[in-house]
Parts: sequence; structure tokens; C-alpha cells
Amino acid sequence: MNIAVIGAGYVGLISSVCYAEIGHQVVGLDLDPDKIQKLNRFVSPIYEPGLEELLEKHITGGRLKFTDSYEEAIPMADVIVIAVGTPSQANGMADISFVEGAALSSIPYLKKQAVLVIKSTVPVGTGDHVEALIRDRISPDYGIEVVSNPEFLREGTAIYDTFHGDRIVIGANRDSAGETVRRLHEPLGIPIVMTDRRSSEMIKYASNAFLATKISFINEIANLCEMLDANVENVSEGMGLDKRIGNQFLKAGIGYGGSCFPKDTNALIQIAGNMQYDFELLRSVVKVNEKQQTGILRKAKAYYGSLQGLKFAVLGLAFKPNTDDMREAPSIRVIEQLVNEEAEVVAYDPVAMDKAPQWLHPATQYAGSWEEAIQDADGVFLLTDWEEFKQIDLRKLRSLMKRPAMFDGRNCFKLSAAESAGLDYVSVGRPAVRKTVQPVG
Ligand code: UDX
Repeated sequence: MNIAVIGAGYVGLISSVCYAEIGHQVVGLDLDPDKIQKLNRFVSPIYEPGLEELLEKHITGGRLKFTDSYEEAIPMADVIVIAVGTPSQANGMADISFVEGAALSSIPYLKKQAVLVIKSTVPVGTGDHVEALIRDRISPDYGIEVVSNPEFLREGTAIYDTFHGDRIVIGANRDSAGETVRRLHEPLGIPIVMTDRRSSEMIKYASNAFLATKISFINEIANLCEMLDANVENVSEGMGLDKRIGNQFLKAGIGYGGSCFPKDTNALIQIAGNMQYDFELLRSVVKVNEKQQTGILRKAKAYYGSLQGLKFAVLGLAFKPNTDDMREAPSIRVIEQLVNEEAEVVAYDPVAMDKAPQWLHPATQYAGSWEEAIQDADGVFLLTDWEEFKQIDLRKLRSLMKRPAMFDGRNCFKLSAAESAGLDYVSVGRPAVRKTVQPVG
């Protein structure tokens, strides 16, 4: 099939290379000419394992190209995939103006029977709205259809997820259009859920909200475990073996971040609010997450008394490993509060060093390695569970620090390892290991 993918952001790029990998002919469209030039030289604007390799393979193989021209991309396309951003507005609602813009700009060039697929995460009813925009401008004889096809990709494993996802969701109000999109994905051999368009739009929000709920739930259990001297890892394991609960997304930590969970939970609260429905549970999930992101500082304050004048290393800036994405990363709030407490901050991340300064407090200093960051530090905050950090030799870490204390927001180390290294070690939902100094306050 001939496919045009509008938007060369995260979802659009992954979709473009993966549709080409399946065997389709793909044109990626983005209005940013710089981005297009780079992409045509196989340079990706985002860090995602495997992406540049697939760009090179399919651009040189002639199955994929990028353009900034609707006139070039749309006329040949059987399927137009809209994968543009839907950023949060001030009230939390998703802004669909880029989706509307992509649909309206395509209209003059659409061929008969073309199918418009909305992959962007959009409020329930957006498909109907886009269909109405088209019906106002093109005769129904043209047979243009609008289909919802949300994605469930995780950053860092997005290409793997495309080929090994649990399900593909296709929401269409007419069978013929749904069938075209089903054939597009059939070669993946993944179970396909065919449903109506509004339910499909809701599946995306409900899935992300449910996963965020699991995380906030286990984080509250973790906070209780700390008070009751239990260990949340053992609790998660015991809970997760129950198939009705499942063992995924039960890892306690410093709270969720990224481009999806914070945005989509707030949007769903707002979608409910527009219907005069108070989604109380989800409001609490968001509140718990905000509290969790800074809980690590309360623990540090209890340990040191005051953070003023102390030097801290912050290891891990991206919102999770294997990405350079800083959106809603816990590091942003933690560093801001450390600076507000008049502490000195030296930060390091294996991949996000270029992007980080746009997001972090200007007083943040940067180091070229974790060893450099912790040199003479009074404490270390571990905020992203990069493999590089999990491999840290804690004895070496201890020897480089002025005061060997670690606040681990990701439970990267066994308590026994911290103990035998002689480290004061405070993690999430597990008993603290205190070797050198007793907690204050
Ligand atoms: C998520 C969804 O998984 C994906 O299906 C959707 O399309 C986009 O949002 P992503 O944001 O890339 O993907 O990251 P994910 O791996 O799901 O992690 C989200 C956040 O939750 C991260 O901050 C992570 O650290 C946190 N998390 C995840 C936990 O704190 N505990 C867990 O058990 C799992």
C-alpha cells in the first residue's frame, strides 16, 4: 500500500520506518524543512534504539522518503496516517489543532477512497469532528473515511513494540475503511481489535490511565511499606503472581513521567469534566504522582537536617532509561527544589546531556561521567534506572564521595550490596540502610 505519514515526531517517525519495514511504500511529511533534510540523511531528531538503522535501510532501498510538501505526499496515498502532536492546553485538555490542520491541508490532494487514520492521541469524538470537516469540503462520492488507530509504543522500545505489541486497535464506523487499515497491519501477526471509532479513542486514554493508576497505587503501598518496615519489592512480587493483577507496572519508584502518562491522565480528567463527570480516582492518581516525585527530597531533608551548602550529584535526568526525553522527568522538580534549598547540583545522564539544560534549573552543573559527578559529593540522587548506573561499583562510589549517602528513586541496588559497601542508602518502599550517620528529624 502507499502510505503518507503526517508528522515526523516520535510516533510519526516510528510508524514511517515500521510501515516501510512491513513492506509498504511510505512518504513521511513534516513542515519543518530542517528535520526533513536531516531525515533524508538518516539523522534522527530523537534518540530511539534502531531508528537510524531503519531510516538508512528504507531510504536507500527506495521504500521511504521524507518531504515537507502535502502536494507531493498525499495524492498517491491510499492511507494517510495523522501522527502529529496533541499538546496539553492550560486546562489539561488535548489541543487537536495540529490534527485539524493536517486533515484540512490534505483535503485538496486526497484521492478517491483514501482512508485518513488518526494515530495521534485525541479526545473521544475527534474522529467524528474530522469526518465532519471533510464532509463539509468534499462530496461523499469521494468515499473518504476516517479511522482511529491509537498506538501503544513505549519510548526506547518503540520499534520492538511495533512488531511485538499485545494488540492493534482499529476503530472504524464503516467496515470497508476498517478493513483497509486491518490489511495494512495484518503482516505483523498481532491480535487486532476491531471496534467503533469512539471506543477506540477511549481505549488509548483508558489504557494509559490504568497503567498510571497501577504505578501510583504501588507507590502509595511503597510509602506505607517504609513506615511499616515491609519491602515493596516483595509485596509487588507477591501481588503480581495473581494473574488478575499481573506483575507489570508494579515497580515502585519516583513516579511516572514522559510525554504520555502525565498528558493523557490530565486530558482524560478534562474529558470527563466536560461531561460534568468528576473522575475522582484519576485525579488522585495524578496527585499521588506529583507527591511521589518530590518524596525523595523529604527523605533527604530528614537525613541531613538542612540541604543548604551541600553538594549533590544527580544521576539520571531522562524520564526513563533508553531515551533522551526530558518531558515531565522527575529530575526537573528534584533539581529545582535542591537549588531552592541552596544546594549545589552536579548532574549526569548517559544520553540526555544535550537536551537536559533546556529543562533544568540554570544553576545546574554538568559532569561528563557519573564518577565526575559524585566527586566530593555529600550525597547522590539516582533518578533514572540506566543500566550504566545499575553496574556501578558501590565501593568505588563510596570512595569518591565526601559523604557516602545515596537516595535511590529507582531501587537499582540490593539492600545487601549497599550495606556491604558501607553506604547510607535510602530507596523507595524498602528499609533504609544507614551505616555512617543516623537520620536527623
Ligand atoms: C507509555 C505507555 O507504556 C505506552 O503504551 C504509551 O503509548 C505511551 O506511554 P512511555 O511513556 O514510553 O510509554 O513509558 P513507560 O515505559 O510506559 O513508562 C512510563 C513511566 O512510568 C516512566 O516514568 C517509568 O519510569 C514509570 N514506571 C513504569 C514506573 O514508575 N513503574 C513501573 O512499574 C512502570
